Amino acid sequence: MQTPYFLLDKQLLDANLVSFKDALNRIWAHSSIGYSVKTNSMPWLLKYLKGQGLQAEVVSDEEYELSLLCGFAETEIIYNGPIKSEDYFISAVRKGSIVNIDSKNELAWFKAHIKESNSNIGIRINVDTSIFDESDVAYTNEGFRFGFSEENRDLAQAIDILRLGDEKNRIGLHFHCNSVSRSVDVYRKIALYAKELILKYNIDPSFIDVGGGFFGGVEGKPGPVDYVNVIYEELKNVVDVEKTKLIVEPGSAIIGSAVSFHTSVIDVKDTSKATVVTTDGSRINIDPLWAKDKYDYATESDYDASKIKSKQIICGYTCMDHDRIMSITGGRALSIGDRIIYSKVGAYTMTFGGPFIKYFPEVYVEDSGVSQLIRKRMTVQDYYTIQNG
Ligand SMILES: Cc1ncc(COP(=O)(O)O)c(C=O)c1O
Repeated sequence: MQTPYFLLDKQLLDANLVSFKDALNRIWAHSSIGYSVKTNSMPWLLKYLKGQGLQAEVVSDEEYELSLLCGFAETEIIYNGPIKSEDYFISAVRKGSIVNIDSKNELAWFKAHIKESNSNIGIRINVDTSIFDESDVAYTNEGFRFGFSEENRDLAQAIDILRLGDEKNRIGLHFHCNSVSRSVDVYRKIALYAKELILKYNIDPSFIDVGGGFFGGVEGKPGPVDYVNVIYEELKNVVDVEKTKLIVEPGSAIIGSAVSFHTSVIDVKDTSKATVVTTDGSRINIDPLWAKDKYDYATESDYDASKIKSKQIICGYTCMDHDRIMSITGGRALSIGDRIIYSKVGAYTMTFGGPFIKYFPEVYVEDSGVSQLIRKRMTVQDYYTIQNG
């Protein structure tokens, strides 16, 4: 296989799936897993997860359409986010998708078109960031972007509209919060916040959707059982867990740890100040937010190279001087043809970004030692055709 390429390890993927399914079956059986399509929207993966009984959590009309193409029924799609179109919104509600309303715009569409109570409709709650430990979330001063705030009464109004003014009508509650730590405590706080709202507004939720943002398959970090446990413990006294469905929307916890990115050294040079190692993978491929400060990686060489270098700067192919992936200090001197393999890079990577200088690399899936190509390298002709129709 020619580098650069991504390799999806199907056994690791299966292990991540099993640990979510087991935790939910054991603790909150009336539940579903809505895989976060944006985290990695590879069609092979979506079809596979559909076959494994997952639902698709989408945040655009395009992702909705892609999920249908990959075999999900409308009733197996959760439609979130602030950029739904009116047509898709109405159709998704009518066809039985779970639709979590994010904006006043959508409330207006609801009022205009939906006349009957619908327990598949949920409301995205703009959880007050001050309930969290400062080390767990970003934007503690400015707050989160999405959903309705309870503190300014917007949430109360929205709940009233969605329940059509009748407390007996059931709706769902959606709480995804972006945390920087993925800590279990974030979910404890979310569950406590949910509990307060349930009591205050006398809600019998059809579902509680806690969103994504979990760890999964990473040694030394929490796993599904830890998260589901705290959510259950905080909510078991205010909801009937046989009637209120728990929805989780993992993305990274399913695919992140199952994928590696394989690159080769294409040049090594000493400048007056450093040793620069250029590779055929870029930071674009594995760190779309350009924020990582360490990687889980290994190097491979066909030669028994024992020379040690005090510092090597590993760079990407992009011709941008800042495409510097990492520095290796005190490592074996790398030479042309050596491989650098980055692990746990399946989330927000292989479908993020676009054709820049080099085009999307190949993706393989490996199962019991057998590799299968599941995405061809994007060719110049593919790129040209997309641009020219
Ligand atoms: C609403 C929603 N659900 C699920 C996810 C998936 O998060 P992760 O990939 O971190 O599990 C996200 C990511 O931002 C999200 O916004």
